[in-house]
Amino acid sequence: MPSDFNVAVLISGRGSNLEKLINCAEDYTVKAVFSNKVNAPGLEHARKAGISSLGFNRRDYKSLKDFKAAIFDAVRKSRPDLVALAGFMLIVDPEFVEEFYGRLVNIHPSLLPAYPGLDTHRRALEAGERFHGCTVHFVDAGVDTGPIIAQARCPVLPGDTADTLARRVLNLEHKLYPWVVNSIARGNIWLQNNAVEYTPGAVGEARARNFILNLSRKED
Ligand code: GRF
Repeated sequence: MPSDFNVAVLISGRGSNLEKLINCAEDYTVKAVFSNKVNAPGLEHARKAGISSLGFNRRDYKSLKDFKAAIFDAVRKSRPDLVALAGFMLIVDPEFVEEFYGRLVNIHPSLLPAYPGLDTHRRALEAGERFHGCTVHFVDAGVDTGPIIAQARCPVLPGDTADTLARRVLNLEHKLYPWVVNSIARGNIWLQNNAVEYTPGAVGEARARNFILNLSRKED
């Protein structure tokens, strides 16, 4: 039976994380998909799965403000329990962040707080990092900041290029993001007083999958 925990996914491009979120949904339903690019290839994943999808065209709006307002109003109207950004390249409006704080998550291809922003794989390589990976976090008003929920890590291998590293990290993203969203939908992960809380079950599952949780506060 489809879950009544509704997730809205926002994308801008390829949508491989969206595809995984659709295919790995156990305790949530991807109810609607939105894109700030009318021709985002990822929208096809929604169409194939029969999920409502909407691509917005910047040219249809006088200002960036109106464009974003249209997108976020549509997201609101889909009445999501959780909003998942998956390669969404627009900065989310602060009002929306405030309204959805604790119900708005993002995936980022680095081990935050290292390498926020773009071009993370090249920057990690150039810095000579031994490890790299990805992070799912609750979104706050900053760019790639906000309470970290979970990370997946891989070694940087000799001979790695930004492309080979990106592929290895993307593979981790595809496992990490659906796990986090299923866990939130089950009530096993939540945000409380700005701290991420986990049930013991979620901690055990993360250990078994080699995911890193944001547990340091409790271990102090
Ligand atoms: C992913 O690397 C994600 O971490 C980042 O943008 C990329 C989106 O890829 N935020 P896809 O569109 O999900 O394939």
